[in-house]
Amino acid sequence: MNESPIQPDGEVSRPTAQQLPVNAARVLEARGLRRVYTMGSERLEILRQVDLDLDEGEILAVVGTSGSGKSTLLHLLGTLDRPDEGQVHFRGRDLFVMNDQDLARFRNRNLGFVFQFHHLLPEFTALENVSLPGRIQGLGPREVETRARELLGEVGLAARAEHKPGELSGGEQQRVALARALFNRPAVVLADEPTGNLDPATARGLHDLMYTLARRHRQAWIVVTHNEQLAQLADSIGRLEEGTLRVHRPSV
Ligand SMILES: Nc1ncnc2c1ncn2[C@@H]1O[C@H](COP(=O)(O)OP(=O)(O)O)[C@@H](O)[C@H]1O
Ligand SMILES: [Mg+2]
Repeated sequence: MNESPIQPDGEVSRPTAQQLPVNAARVLEARGLRRVYTMGSERLEILRQVDLDLDEGEILAVVGTSGSGKSTLLHLLGTLDRPDEGQVHFRGRDLFVMNDQDLARFRNRNLGFVFQFHHLLPEFTALENVSLPGRIQGLGPREVETRARELLGEVGLAARAEHKPGELSGGEQQRVALARALFNRPAVVLADEPTGNLDPATARGLHDLMYTLARRHRQAWIVVTHNEQLAQLADSIGRLEEGTLRVHRPSV
């Protein structure tokens, strides 16, 4: 593994150009991830030995049967859960040496999350929902609104800013959730079956939008999906099977 010396202030000394692949910088690196759930006397080894490399701007689709551990893996990569063994490095920085409070701050600044269920607040308008990350950060109201409107424009919902989630279609609700996830300009976006509840045409539209935004902002995305066709549109595909991840390039 590439051991970058970490300075006391948390800064990582940059590796020399020869150590990096051309035109690519590693943003996320996981090594030997293991996650075991204990149910009474039973031990379920869901992730056995997962290694993963993600470059800036790369889109990785993760596929695997239901129960293979896709959500478990995404939770570890998103630092929402800690592994039993193994490490996750973000731009060379070992994440799980941080305490929970520092991890929460790290997440807010660097990661975006999109889930199968949009988790929008029903009493809030689209604009207010997208604004939440900025308000939590304590940014000024005008700055927050400008950014939220810009994001709603990017997901094609500028005209629906004042609508509440109940007045939007499933696809539109997910677009709002997408805009909210991007508020803080995350370097990595983690999406867990974001189109799982949508009809095929709407799912395709949302995937196209996610991939367009990822390219435009040079964000790295990890998208868990059941849809093999949509997975083929990613830069790489990781198949989770028997607790390990095998990554390959799409065949088309
Ligand atoms: N907190 C937990 N405690 C015990 N078992 C769990 C827990 N979370 C998930 N599991 C089990 O781990 C397996 C993988 O779950 P999950 O990561 O959600 O799979 P996937 O997202 O691929 O469908 C499943 O068998 C699930 O029941
Ligand atoms: Mg899942």
